[in-house]
Amino acid sequence: MSSLKEVTMWTKGDLQKLIKEKLSGYKFIVVSNRQPYVHVMKKGKIECQRGAGGVITALDPIMQACNGLWVAYGNGDADRRVTDAEGKIMVPSENPKYTLKRVWLTKEEEDGHYYGFSNEALWPLCHMAFQRPVFKNSDWEYYVQVNKKFAEAVLKEVGKKKAFIWIQDYHLALLPKILKEAAGKRLIIAHFWHIPWPNFETFRICPQKHDILEGLLSNDILGFHIRHHRDNFIDAVDRELESKIDKERFSVIRSGHETLIRPHPISVDFEGISETSHSPAVNAAVEILREEFPLKGKRVILGLDRIDYTKGIPERLLAVDRLLEKYPKFKEKIVFLQMGEISRIHIGKYKALNDEINRVVEEINWKHSTDDWDPVIMVRRHLSFHELLAFYRLGDLCVVSSLHDGMNLVAKEFVSSRSDGEGMLVLSQFTGAARELTDAILINPYDREQFCDGIFQALNLSDDERHKRMEKLRQIVQHNNIYRWAGKILSELLRFEFKE
Ligand code: F6P
Repeated sequence: MSSLKEVTMWTKGDLQKLIKEKLSGYKFIVVSNRQPYVHVMKKGKIECQRGAGGVITALDPIMQACNGLWVAYGNGDADRRVTDAEGKIMVPSENPKYTLKRVWLTKEEEDGHYYGFSNEALWPLCHMAFQRPVFKNSDWEYYVQVNKKFAEAVLKEVGKKKAFIWIQDYHLALLPKILKEAAGKRLIIAHFWHIPWPNFETFRICPQKHDILEGLLSNDILGFHIRHHRDNFIDAVDRELESKIDKERFSVIRSGHETLIRPHPISVDFEGISETSHSPAVNAAVEILREEFPLKGKRVILGLDRIDYTKGIPERLLAVDRLLEKYPKFKEKIVFLQMGEISRIHIGKYKALNDEINRVVEEINWKHSTDDWDPVIMVRRHLSFHELLAFYRLGDLCVVSSLHDGMNLVAKEFVSSRSDGEGMLVLSQFTGAARELTDAILINPYDREQFCDGIFQALNLSDDERHKRMEKLRQIVQHNNIYRWAGKILSELLRFEFKE
């Protein structure tokens, strides 16, 4: 296929061209649990918000570029009011570009599938954050049921057509098998696993490991962020299932079906973010945030996360505490502004983490504050896209301290947003992003002293050194951008032939 050439710098235009030339005539369906846009009631009015999290950050610009169909769980309290009888709505509401089809789940299904098996079993299983996974049979039953429900929604859309399906994440590990069994010859399926894949010692405790591996091996392509996770997956298959592993092609053949296992580091829309972050709307949002927070004359250290135990938020706070102990000259000179979005709050460990963060913030502020200065400002709220970009512009440093993270797109968003060339990134070596962003100041979040010294080093870089490092970081994200990630996966997907 001539236009599946090796593009060196992928742009939105290249991706659009690929999709237009090669996908037209076929259905193109993205499936994820989390929806890109949620409709909620706010002060008696319906408000449309863009969802949080890596999958949405990455895929929304792609879907906007290709007018496909996105199937996801409709979890907003006003979602049903705005969709048609098939659960469909065009998004984004201010400039509709693609169709969102909502799958409706019961409270029990959400509890068992999302809070239960996905986030109390698979999430801690895959992240080495030393939280014990909980495997409940009833959660597993809902996990199976919800995967079937998603399959029904997809199959209804496919009808008698041929379709390319792109599944996202660990909530839908069984979906490829259900789809292939129902309409295998008409479907070509890629699946991207957005979180780490653990080593075998960890994975082998999962009671449903065979079903999960078999589900994933029904895909034509299975993607991970980094080679290490790909290798862990292949190792798990090797030890658990009868199959042929082709070490040259990095593929697994089982029951006559081949799955290519690939590392594809996800990214962000570098050009879009870079441009928008200095638009009038973002400039205005910067002013509003500057009025809201007492940052004047201070060096600002930023943190921004979903509040999750994998993100190393208490570790980050303790590193700031140590910085103020060890280098008291920073007292009244710095502010650490941590923005957090409440997440998965019905799970006990997340509630406990919120309490722990409150306690640590309170202790640090009590210990170091003066009459008119608190070192830590903790804000829990959802930011719109413009507010998010404005937030990044407030920072002298952005600190990402995940204990384990598949990629971490906050790091890449921050770098992309600083087209002024200012700012510096302090980044955990346990993120996928650290493999690419080697000019950041890399830290071990478990090592409080080294972490504190990393922040100190970042605050003390000369302008010249900082600018050089930021320039290199920006070049990497510009090259390895989101269109490259999608373009590479789709180019490989498009090489498959339909069986009938
Ligand atoms: O980063 C991993 C991830 O699962 C993303 O795939 C997802 O968008 C994000 O975490 C947010 O999680 P949730 O959908 O539970 O809010």
